Amino acid sequence: MTRATTHAAGEVVLEARGLSVHFGGLRALSDLDLEVRHGEVLGVVGPNGAGKSTLFNALAGALRPTTGRILLHGVEVTGKRADQRARLGISRTFQTVRPFVDETLVRNVAVAALATGTGRAAAIEEAHHLLEQVGLHDKAEQLASSLGHGERKRLELARAFALRPSVLMLDEVMAGLNPTEVTEVVELVRDLCRQTDIDLLIIEHLLSAVRSLAQRVIVLDAGVVLAEGAPAEVFEDPRVVEAYLGAKYAAS
Ligand SMILES: Nc1ncnc2c1ncn2[C@@H]1O[C@H](COP(=O)(O)OP(=O)(O)O)[C@@H](O)[C@H]1O
Ligand SMILES: [Mg+2]
Repeated sequence: MTRATTHAAGEVVLEARGLSVHFGGLRALSDLDLEVRHGEVLGVVGPNGAGKSTLFNALAGALRPTTGRILLHGVEVTGKRADQRARLGISRTFQTVRPFVDETLVRNVAVAALATGTGRAAAIEEAHHLLEQVGLHDKAEQLASSLGHGERKRLELARAFALRPSVLMLDEVMAGLNPTEVTEVVELVRDLCRQTDIDLLIIEHLLSAVRSLAQRVIVLDAGVVLAEGAPAEVFEDPRVVEAYLGAKYAAS
């Protein structure tokens, strides 16, 4: 492992400056600035089409920004590929969960641990430990294809944490979960964060989950930051409530 693992609370871990992504004439993101600080969970919310997934893709290196810079621990990574950024410490989950369905759970997680340079035996041990933490240990030797939707989310979290990133970006991990499962996954994410040095950037439609997890939130709309601050303040902001949250998030 080449990356540093100890950082001071409040230190900027991931930073975007003047980030824009245009798809032809469509400005999916316009001149966005963002900072993830060590020891905090940053939430990103906004209506469909606001640019949330585009932001994740640009930060993760899955697409090249039209303008702007991305820095990890102050080092520019804008020109790096997704796999290079993953090795440097930026990881993400996908909105659509995609485990290796023909592999066992333990192998699914161990592959991620192996990618950090951990030896085989240690990777398997780590995989068992993480499966226990996410409550899937009794299914460790089953194929991932046998899992239900909520269980796949848990597996995805175990895989994401096994990568031991500096910053982990979670793209709507609560989507499709029932209220009980949401409460469990919120607790799980909080525990995993507490036990590791990993900082989180979470995209989430479910505002109650963002409220429980994030210390700071940014509201995106049409590719620009509409509001930023503590969830309690931002979610009360009349502009946010009226224009973007009221009808669309009534169920949250
Ligand atoms: N690969 C792409 N090509 C063209 N347009 C895209 C592409 N990806 C996203 N968009 C458009 O960019 C805007 C932002 O999309 P997205 O980032 O997926 O929003 P969100 O995740 O907030 O729902 C939308 O108008 C979407 O249609
Ligand atoms: Mg999206």
